[in-house]
Amino acid sequence: MTGTLRAGVIGWPVEHSISPKLHGYWLSAYGVDGSYAHLPTPADGLEERVSSLLRDGWRGANVTLPHKEEALRLADEATERARAIGAANTLMFRKGRVFADNTDGFGFIENLQDRAPRGWRADRPAVVLGAGGASRAVIWSLLDAGAPELRIANRTRARAEALATEFGPRIAVIDWEETANSLSDAGLIVNTTSLGMKGEPPLELDFEGVGPDAVATDIVYTPLETPFLASAAAHGLATVDGLGMLLHQARPGFEAWFGEKPVVDDRLRSIMLAS
Ligand code: ATR
Repeated sequence: MTGTLRAGVIGWPVEHSISPKLHGYWLSAYGVDGSYAHLPTPADGLEERVSSLLRDGWRGANVTLPHKEEALRLADEATERARAIGAANTLMFRKGRVFADNTDGFGFIENLQDRAPRGWRADRPAVVLGAGGASRAVIWSLLDAGAPELRIANRTRARAEALATEFGPRIAVIDWEETANSLSDAGLIVNTTSLGMKGEPPLELDFEGVGPDAVATDIVYTPLETPFLASAAAHGLATVDGLGMLLHQARPGFEAWFGEKPVVDDRLRSIMLAS
């Protein structure tokens, strides 16, 4: 390979994305002759964007809103996990062909393993709040990790039921109002809704009666400690914030494009936090 290796993040809007900072950190840490750019791309512009990156010899790209589902559709090949999740967040370009992967579920599990020092009770049911795109990645990863039962609670129950139909018999659907009653034997409680994000109302959940060895984790990372995590911690639960999911999901793309296996460590976390 010769010349600067190029990758970037495709989205709209995308200027807020911290991926260039993250990949930029690794590029300089590993001394790679590479670059990683913001690639603002309107909703109807994905195909054209991908064609031009292919033509210009780019290594690949991350894909974020609103393009994740279309990115999977237009790929020549996709990993099993991308197909199961129904969306792609990482594209690799090789010999004029587009390969799609979805590393969000991988990032979710790696973050939990990294940040929940005593692990979580994987033999117990996990409760997943929310049934949107992020929930699909979390569900896939927990099933893949061997979770015996996943309880999905969503404000719009029909979306949770659709996930149960799709992902099979280990999924149980819980009424949104009944969420608190489904927590007593849970090993893991996951927020995948946008509640608690800066500017959004908090996710209010009663952790009374939840076992002290349960772990609560949020995929929201602005703020780092969401009201959901603060309340779980106040009840003595171990908590894992959402920043690491973002950091870990980026690892497979970096390795594929730039040829180095990057590491997520405390220094990277503090640099990303400072930004
Ligand atoms: P993403 O792809 O990021 O998961 P999404 O598909 O818009 O985004 O899903 C957002 C999730 O947050 C959904 O589960 C949504 O519930 P609905 O399916 O009922 O819309 C949930 N959510 C957003 N605002 C909410 C609120 N005020 N109360 C409860 N759930 C909310």
